[in-house]
Amino acid sequence: MSTETPRRTFAIISHPDAGKTTLTEKLLFLGGSIRSAGTVKGKKTGKFATSDWMEIEKQRGISVTSSVMQLLYNGVQINILDTPGHQDFSEDTYRTLTAVDTAVMVIDSVKGIEAQTIKLFKVCRMRGIPILTFINKLDREGKEPLDLLAEIEEVLEMETYPMNWPIGMGKTLKGIYSIPDNTIEVFNETHEREIIPFDGQKVLADYEKEKLEEDIMLLEEAGNEFTMEKVRNGSLTPVFFGSALSSFGVQSFLDHFVTLAAEPQPRKASGVLLPPDSEVFTGFVFKIQANMNPHHRDRIAFLRICSGKFERGMEVMLSRTGKKMKLNQSHSFFASDRETVETAMAGDIIGLYDSGNFQVGDTLVIGNERLIYEEMPQFPPEKFAKVTAKNALKHKQYHKGMEQLVQEGTIQLYKTPFFEDFIIGAVGELQFQVFEYRMKNEYNVEIEFHHMTHELARWVTKGEVTDKMTDSRKMLVNDQQGRPVLLFENDFALRMFQEKYSDIELSTGWELL
Ligand code: G4P
Repeated sequence: MSTETPRRTFAIISHPDAGKTTLTEKLLFLGGSIRSAGTVKGKKTGKFATSDWMEIEKQRGISVTSSVMQLLYNGVQINILDTPGHQDFSEDTYRTLTAVDTAVMVIDSVKGIEAQTIKLFKVCRMRGIPILTFINKLDREGKEPLDLLAEIEEVLEMETYPMNWPIGMGKTLKGIYSIPDNTIEVFNETHEREIIPFDGQKVLADYEKEKLEEDIMLLEEAGNEFTMEKVRNGSLTPVFFGSALSSFGVQSFLDHFVTLAAEPQPRKASGVLLPPDSEVFTGFVFKIQANMNPHHRDRIAFLRICSGKFERGMEVMLSRTGKKMKLNQSHSFFASDRETVETAMAGDIIGLYDSGNFQVGDTLVIGNERLIYEEMPQFPPEKFAKVTAKNALKHKQYHKGMEQLVQEGTIQLYKTPFFEDFIIGAVGELQFQVFEYRMKNEYNVEIEFHHMTHELARWVTKGEVTDKMTDSRKMLVNDQQGRPVLLFENDFALRMFQEKYSDIELSTGWELL
């Protein structure tokens, strides 16, 4: 795609089953990127099952090719980054959010805000990026629209501003009223898009019209003031109601998305603020996807371009090591194809062939100045396991594999004081599986896992934790940098500890970076 076309790069944050895949498909369809629904849903249709890219992907039906999708709409190139959920939830899901400029929060109108949405939302909040909300499944009997707005405001502490308003829901769904346009999008069985002016409309019964007018008046009186500034700094979310499955409200959402979503923003590398149109090409690696085929050790590093232009074959420097390299093998991912990319610009994601040079968080830059983006926090793990090599004689390979995979960002490593037992931490089960698989296939080491019941990690930022304060429910370990970290079984154990030892300060870790 042309490097002159404006870019908008976003990811969907949602809880499994809220409708992320369905909405993504409808958006791609509107942009002409796919011809039929079902193309993205590799998970269920098995379309990607033929990919030989990665054994685990094959088994699970997830694919590198669905990691980044593109569509062209109203002269804007929209890049959609996939945020894997379900059993594929991992640190990569969080890391993807460091590479986008906007998040779209999809909420199931029946269920309201759910756990995974909150987790992902926190990463967006930390970054202060715009969040647009799509409240989905309006064709079902869901919660009251006003209650849904109140829930967002209370749980996420973010102002809301409805861009449209439902007229009925579920079986009584008549349409949605567009507040900025003063029009009604009529809901019909055929899912044909029908928009009529509100003034002079004849589709609503008197009671429906009255109810709508009351709601709108209430929103005008009690609602929040809309400013683009609040949208852009993530303190106010524009809210759209619709039904992805019925293609209802999706195009209107997309029309507004183009203006509300942020363009690629200047980002800071080593204290230098680089605008996207800078002469200097920079980008950072936010994800590394390994090839699980034992005959090919190659990997794909996903690079978010932050400034300047990418041209295939260009020579860049890996800032961490100072090593220069030519970027010859670069890919873009487009629905179901992996294509070679010749040029790309700020906001784009490219996949770089990697024979083991890159780590998650690495900055690539043109020129000799070793600029480094500090975009990549360490995300607090929620699953822990003690690991050992099944065969003690393989300790050399075991240590080598562990070191490399930890560096690459596959898994987090902690050690117990004194005995230095290895404890690995992850945000999702998939990371353990990938770790186990790669240790076996790449380093020929079989791993023994002892899953732990701990679920929370807190870094000790003030005070000293002694043996007396710990037990099986709260365990002291050290992270890779030797910083003390307490692992708690649950929130209750954490609160008890905090009450008892109020002079010890704990942090989730994000603030440390
Ligand atoms: P996810 O990616 O967020 O996990 O959700 P996905 O799009 O797969 O949607 C989850 C389920 O919700 C699917 O049903 C999907 O058809 C349904 N869904 C999505 N949008 C809407 C909507 O606007 N209204 C209604 N009523 N349902 C919606 P499923 O039965 O689990 O899968 P499938 O067999 O239909 O594919």
